[in-house]
Amino acid sequence: MVSVAILGAAGGIGQPLSLLLKMNPHVTRLNLYDLVNVPGVAADISHINTNSTVSSHLDKQNLGAALTGVDIVIIPAGVPRKPGMTRDDLFNINAGIVRTLAEAIADYCPTAIVGVISNPVNSTVPIAAEVLKARGVYNPKRLFGVTSLDVVRASRFVRDIRPTVDASALRIPVVGGHSGTTIVPLLSLAEPRFGGDEVVQAKAGAGSATLSMAYAAARFTDSVIRAINGEDVVEPAFVSLDADPHGAENIRALGAGSLEYFAVPVQLGKEGVQRIVPVPSVTPFERKAIGVASAELQKNISKGVSFTQKAK
Ligand code: NAD
Ligand code: LMR
Repeated sequence: MVSVAILGAAGGIGQPLSLLLKMNPHVTRLNLYDLVNVPGVAADISHINTNSTVSSHLDKQNLGAALTGVDIVIIPAGVPRKPGMTRDDLFNINAGIVRTLAEAIADYCPTAIVGVISNPVNSTVPIAAEVLKARGVYNPKRLFGVTSLDVVRASRFVRDIRPTVDASALRIPVVGGHSGTTIVPLLSLAEPRFGGDEVVQAKAGAGSATLSMAYAAARFTDSVIRAINGEDVVEPAFVSLDADPHGAENIRALGAGSLEYFAVPVQLGKEGVQRIVPVPSVTPFERKAIGVASAELQKNISKGVSFTQKAK
């Protein structure tokens, strides 16, 4: 019995993600929310003959109903980038969207597990955290920036150079954040690739990754559900290192220093983050990359935090 709300369900990610979660036998209720087109998406998906119930929630006055009683909230609401833009260029629009949605989460489902997809994840997660803190309902174990696409890509890219490996079985840790040099896959062999940039270029102005992201978000959501149901599951995510101060010591020693948020492998439990999984060792090359990532991340996190403080 797991209820999931998707905020931004009519978008490029939201639609295929809704489809994939309608196929998930553990999901019993799927609440789809957007500012546009969501009645059609919900009507379409609701005809798929799996057992879950789909409901449509159009516009802000129906946001509370979309969130009431849900266990998991996934947020792909917001604008995607075009060629020539960085994820940080989306801050001005998406920061306000995520703030509004986090306020509603605090009011209607303060104990839900929340996965933020909207970019720039390095800043939108701190924004959501600050909103939840201000409303007295923050639990660092229950807020995630969804970075599953980075590990999905890392394993697929390794298969490009090692065609005999099974990409779906490879688990390559990716640490840091979710933008440019803050994405640090811990493999010393591969040539650097900027997966998000490749898709933005190939789509030539028609958006960024949607189908692979929907797959990755469906995987993330399924991992959260399996953990709620008692399975032992590890999933990468951009989380507060306060969620597991003991596990964070190892990550800080790799070069994350005093950063509050970092993408790490997370062992999930019924309450969200159960444990940050230690990364056994890194090469000097990877340590240097973590240093570069941390300097950029510090700026992204501070930008998110001061955005919410200015609004007070
Ligand atoms: P899109 O434009 O196709 O869809 C976004 C949807 O959000 C639209 O349907 C829009 O109506 C809706 N929306 C906008 N404001 C809203 C609000 N206030 N409340 C509810 N819904 C709202 O974009 P997309 O391709 O689906 O990408 C969505 C976001 O995900 C972008 O910010 C993109 O950069 C990000 N993204 C993140 C990752 C990741 O790995 N974390 C990967 C791909 C894309
Ligand atoms: C991605 O990694 O594909 C997303 O963050 C979207 C983007 O803008 O690259």
